Amino acid sequence: MRRHPPTSGTVTSGERDATQPQVRDQAEPSLSNATNRVDSGEAGQITLTVNGVTHHVDVADDTLLLDALREAVGVTSVREGCGVGACGACTVLTGGTSVSSCLALALRYDGAEITTAEGLDENDDVVSSFVECGAAQCGYCIPGFVLMSAELLAENPRPSEQDITDHLEGNICRCGTYPEIRRAVAVAAERRSPK
Ligand code: FES
Ligand code: FES
Repeated sequence: MRRHPPTSGTVTSGERDATQPQVRDQAEPSLSNATNRVDSGEAGQITLTVNGVTHHVDVADDTLLLDALREAVGVTSVREGCGVGACGACTVLTGGTSVSSCLALALRYDGAEITTAEGLDENDDVVSSFVECGAAQCGYCIPGFVLMSAELLAENPRPSEQDITDHLEGNICRCGTYPEIRRAVAVAAERRSPK
């Protein structure tokens, strides 16, 4: 299950964030990118290594990691859905650990190593199994699901059906592609670790 960012301190690569339970049907996300956020306050420069490339990014003290990645770094697979940590569309991996970037202050991720869906090879077992299993309709949610699936298989190469369901329960697919997504994760696991 995806971790919410910490409320203080700087997050280093691989550090686990505070965990708060999330339930899929707690919130209906808006798929709009509209936001009323106002960047204000102290500016600073942070360094983000995104998919192996280092970026120096100017941010305000209230700039979200989501916005820094999309607007300054240009990674558009990181998407805003709910904006409150309840849908998983904005998921990134920091040092292999999933984080809701819509809740993460960019300044706290200075020096972090971040993986987005763009950073996964097209031949990656998770990516290819999603394609082959038809695990997408509109595709809006899929980068988040793919990253969560990659995290799961890194932690648990042989997940049960329940393990897959549990790990993905904080992510929402408004198109209802859940059966295909779960099947894709199982196929990827089988390929990586055949019985
Ligand atoms: S946009 Fe929904 S969890 Fe971040
Ligand atoms: S929201 Fe459309 S495929 Fe998940």
